[in-house]
Amino acid sequence: MTDLPDDLLTPEAVADPDGAAAVLREHDPVHWSPTHRAWLVTRYDDVVAAFRNPALSSDRVRPLLAQRERPSGDASHRMLGLISEWMVVTDPPAHTRLRRLAGAAFKQQQIAAMEDRIQALVDELVDAFVADGGTDLPADLVAGVAYPLPAIVIAEMLGAPPEDRDRFREWSDELALVAFGAGGDARPDRHERALRGLEEMAEYFRALVARRRRDPGGDMLSAMLGDEGDPDALSDDELVGMCALLLFAGHETTTNAIANAVRLLTADPALRDRVRDDPALVNPAVEEALRLVGPIKVLVRWVVEDHELRGRAIRRGERVYLLLCGANRDPERFADPDVVDLARERATHVAFGRGIHACIGAQLARIETRVAVGTLLRRLPGLRVAGEPEYLPTIASRAQTSLPVVHDAVAAGSRP
Ligand code: HEM
Repeated sequence: MTDLPDDLLTPEAVADPDGAAAVLREHDPVHWSPTHRAWLVTRYDDVVAAFRNPALSSDRVRPLLAQRERPSGDASHRMLGLISEWMVVTDPPAHTRLRRLAGAAFKQQQIAAMEDRIQALVDELVDAFVADGGTDLPADLVAGVAYPLPAIVIAEMLGAPPEDRDRFREWSDELALVAFGAGGDARPDRHERALRGLEEMAEYFRALVARRRRDPGGDMLSAMLGDEGDPDALSDDELVGMCALLLFAGHETTTNAIANAVRLLTADPALRDRVRDDPALVNPAVEEALRLVGPIKVLVRWVVEDHELRGRAIRRGERVYLLLCGANRDPERFADPDVVDLARERATHVAFGRGIHACIGAQLARIETRVAVGTLLRRLPGLRVAGEPEYLPTIASRAQTSLPVVHDAVAAGSRP
């Protein structure tokens, strides 16, 4: 079939990726897209199986780097070098080692114990949001709460001093620009400036690593230093890369999780008020938001071995796009897939991926999203979004550029 919506960057597909995925899933669930030169896989079972298929590789930046043949002093080459070592773009055995070391550090952080701190940060941001917005509404909830929160949390987890928070936000944007624009970027100026910013970030993390080696603390970076004499321990360069990855992987995704959940849950005032009035419903509501409007629409894999999928010959060297947005609304897996059902069986969605690369920050992301959404519904009565969403035209992310909201809280005394 040639008339399937297999260009994921058309304005229609960017505005409604789930609609495009539904058509593909129904008519050609393993579809070759000439535009993307990739297979689009949309069924739940196929996506879940793909996460465990050794014929599909995550090692997708190193081949790019190898093709470029730029001098190693070139800033973009150096930055791509750093990104190519990220565990999310490596296969075993390199991945196994990085994941083990990062996993141990996450465990040591006792993420569940961070909830009180996250609540305090959300309250601080909501206080400022209400005070700044005053009666001058709509105000942008992305800029006010959803964007700053995860950057601050990651900065604190890594043990960075509070006065450096804003720099984390800037670096995060710059990382996104360089990582997403790795194959070529339409805005060379911004790209160059971003690269200079990232060099600064690498310097900053290098200094932080040196400080923690001298004087370890209870932060995650200190935990990642590992035991002295461990032959597997991370090098300084790898630690710098890990800090950058945590910022990159944990910032924009969590921002979008919060913003997308707020839009979904406030679209129906009865649902919004039900969730607001029963704190036990915040958790299932956030899980449904992750399933229905998850921050990541598509994950990419490279084919490293010929194989067959639903009668299609998938060849070595081709790319496969796993459409999480297709899998998460597959009627074969979820009854009434397009409906928010707060009694649905939990955590079977694939918003955090599966298999060896399954999101290492999922527990943290869930806490941040739950605390932010629960607090916003409670503290901003009558919360509603003004206007239609505008999404960034990217294949991978479901990212609203802003979230203008209206609510009935007044600046003074809005804290319950
Ligand atoms: C709602 C927010 C988030 C979503 C939807 C999300 C989603 C994902 C997904 C789908 C993957 C799998 C990638 C793949 O298979 O190629 C992943 C991996 C990863 N995520 Fe998250 N993530 C979120 C938040 C976070 C946070 C807060 C952190 C850390 C602070 C984080 C750190 C990572 C890392 C390091 C990986 C790579 C794991 C590996 O390669 O083994 N993520 N995430």
